[in-house]
Amino acid sequence: MADQASHHKHDHATLTFPEGFLWGTATSAHQVEGGNSNNDWWQWEQTRPQQFWSGPSCDHYHKYEEDFDLAKNLGHNAHRLSIEWSRIEPEEGKFDLREIEHYQNVLKALKDRGLKVMLTLHHFTNPAWFAQKGGWENRKSAFYFERFVKTIVPEIKDYVDFWITINEPGVLVWGSYIAAIWPPQKKSRWKALKAMWNIIRAHKKAYKAIHKLVPKTEVGLAQNVQSYTAYHKHSLIEQFGVIFSDLASNHIFYFLTKGYHDFYGLNYYFHYRLKEHGLGVEITDVTHFSKDISDMGWEIFPEGIFNVLTDLSNHIPIYLTECGIATSNDDRRIRFLMQYLQEVYRAIQAGVNVKGFFYWSLLDNFEWADGYEPKFGLIEVDFKTQKRTIKPSSLLYQDIIKHNGIRHKLMKFLGHRVSVKEVLEEK
Ligand code: BGC
Repeated sequence: MADQASHHKHDHATLTFPEGFLWGTATSAHQVEGGNSNNDWWQWEQTRPQQFWSGPSCDHYHKYEEDFDLAKNLGHNAHRLSIEWSRIEPEEGKFDLREIEHYQNVLKALKDRGLKVMLTLHHFTNPAWFAQKGGWENRKSAFYFERFVKTIVPEIKDYVDFWITINEPGVLVWGSYIAAIWPPQKKSRWKALKAMWNIIRAHKKAYKAIHKLVPKTEVGLAQNVQSYTAYHKHSLIEQFGVIFSDLASNHIFYFLTKGYHDFYGLNYYFHYRLKEHGLGVEITDVTHFSKDISDMGWEIFPEGIFNVLTDLSNHIPIYLTECGIATSNDDRRIRFLMQYLQEVYRAIQAGVNVKGFFYWSLLDNFEWADGYEPKFGLIEVDFKTQKRTIKPSSLLYQDIIKHNGIRHKLMKFLGHRVSVKEVLEEK
């Protein structure tokens, strides 16, 4: 009886997150700033049809104050962003003081608005000079990155709460050298291995350098983590496939960089169903059986975030440094947020030390090789006029942040019985 009563109560209360939970969004310099003409991406974009050029992007380089005002007014208490290495060190060893000052102003603008700052030092793009030297394949790449880190960190340390050295090493290497759909488009397992090794060295060097320069701070890295399930539960081969893929894509990196993480930064987007194929397994294409998929073709699988959180949980705090959906239908974004955040809540109830959530992304922006078609933003950007328009999902997120959790009445969206506006306006 008592059990039933508490269950009943729980069902109708707010799903409250831990005190001090960080709520925000994430962006990266090349995807929102515009005009980053001195990096490898920009140069590669010029070889593609114009619709895939980043160009002026969201002009966040100039409009950051307006954008941070929006974030602040929407209740965010934290923000994740990156600085563009190619602006700060446009030529090897030559640092541009005006650009350093620019980023000081950007970070200060966040602090002035009372937001916690999570800063990424490398988010996919490389300075053109660095790329010409072989990029991450070059053994000296880790040294070049460390030199950049040692130069920039003392200049901005007063405005940064959390440091992310490198965003998604696995995705970076996969895109550049395995799938070879990103610059430098060199398909080679050997180059992939070399690049990964150098990125690991670079992360470790940066981790040590930052701690030396700023003794009391938190340093980590953002990893893209995936959840896997067996297509046939009874298939041993598929179950082995799940274990192997989980180890290879989620765990090995942490094993190789053990001791170099004050927190785990997890970016969660992918769930894969593994199906027997010959002597191994292959990823099932879920688009064929109309599973719930985003505009990127990625499966919407809320339990997956619970699975990766519980799987990776140890004593280290976890921040969800990215999680989001590309959709032109904002109702789907609302459902996505509700469903994924419920799973995050459950993971916390299960004992996982999750301390923050950064929705990807604040603004609709440049989605790498896919250009501007995918819409990940809580805020719409009209790329002709640069006008920002708040989407209803922003208001839902604002309500969640305001209550530090999900109010029971918000669940009404899930059945599509009412609109966000109706629920939020309800007294
Ligand atoms: C990256 C972002 C990207 C997002 C959506 C993440 O892998 O860090 O830069 O926009 O996924 O694809």
